[in-house]
Amino acid sequence: KNVVPYSVMKLSDSQMDVPEKFVKAMGERPTVAYNDYCKEIPVISLKNITSSDADRARIVAEIGLACAEWGIFQVVDHGVPEELMTKMAANSMEFFKLPLEEKLKYATKPGGFPVGYASGSHRSDDDILDWRELMVHRTLPSSIREQDINIWPESPDTYRQVLADYSDNVDTLVTSLLGLISESLGLPTDYIKNAVGGEKTEQKILANYYPQCPQPDLTLGLRSHTDYGTITILQQEVGGLQAYKEDRDLWVTVEPIRGALVVNLGDQIQILSNAKYCSVEHQAVVNSNETRLTLVVFANPNSLSQMGPAPELLSEENPAKYRSYTFKDYLPICYAKQTKKHYDALAI
Ligand code: SIN
Ligand code: FE2
Repeated sequence: KNVVPYSVMKLSDSQMDVPEKFVKAMGERPTVAYNDYCKEIPVISLKNITSSDADRARIVAEIGLACAEWGIFQVVDHGVPEELMTKMAANSMEFFKLPLEEKLKYATKPGGFPVGYASGSHRSDDDILDWRELMVHRTLPSSIREQDINIWPESPDTYRQVLADYSDNVDTLVTSLLGLISESLGLPTDYIKNAVGGEKTEQKILANYYPQCPQPDLTLGLRSHTDYGTITILQQEVGGLQAYKEDRDLWVTVEPIRGALVVNLGDQIQILSNAKYCSVEHQAVVNSNETRLTLVVFANPNSLSQMGPAPELLSEENPAKYRSYTFKDYLPICYAKQTKKHYDALAI
């Protein structure tokens, strides 16, 4: 089967109607515009997280509330240099602008682990495609980075170095966030980080390129899903990321804020917290005015980590809602695509 059936960028340039293959079923089409921002999604400053106990306690409380009520929030003063964010976006943009033949040199190998470039979908068995091109890299642990760095693009010539720096900087932020989230659950600071494999936790970096779309109401940049891992950190300049606010039965759009990063919780946090926190369902919508680039860092448990609700949080009043499992056994559940909410397969 075709791994790259269409270059979405070429389709965008051609100004044709959106081909059938990209037209979503009625119930899956966007209902809220890409720039209709929800002002309530929390924006949390991480300034002084280590300098004063009072500041830290306040931030932990804000994080706890955001995790319980939203499962998605933004952080500012997060320590990832804005200049690095800008360089990372510029390099990825340059990559996507390369001629298709060049990009195809990095194409995802069928059947293999999904790394590299793809257009429409990185899965060859998808019936309906998304309006995006994407590039995925395995960036941590360092043993995997050393293996894969040879297949990262060499042009622009700063690509590899900037990607490695970005990976390390966001990893530091992830460790701080996991500490804050652990504390907000009443657990020791290093609890979640240790639970997901400590220094052996895995990181992937995904760049998404969503070209302008002539009929944005018919398709999606990325179909609705929850992230299967621990947490996800996203950088965006143009709007399009939407989260489903279940208690309001409403899609809410995350506002791009210069220098901010979006954090969303993955399935592993929902399960570990015994559903106190939610792995939020989200999607990306496209628009006809401007192309959108996003950079997404996934922090995932090491495949051998034993996952499940934290025993420390369980009691007679709060019995385990999920079975325990080895993280590598979670992935087949996700790939089976039976439900958007993969964790339902583990419900007790
Ligand atoms: C994602 O969910 O992985 C990306 C969403 C986006 O690009 O806004
Ligand atoms: Fe996602």
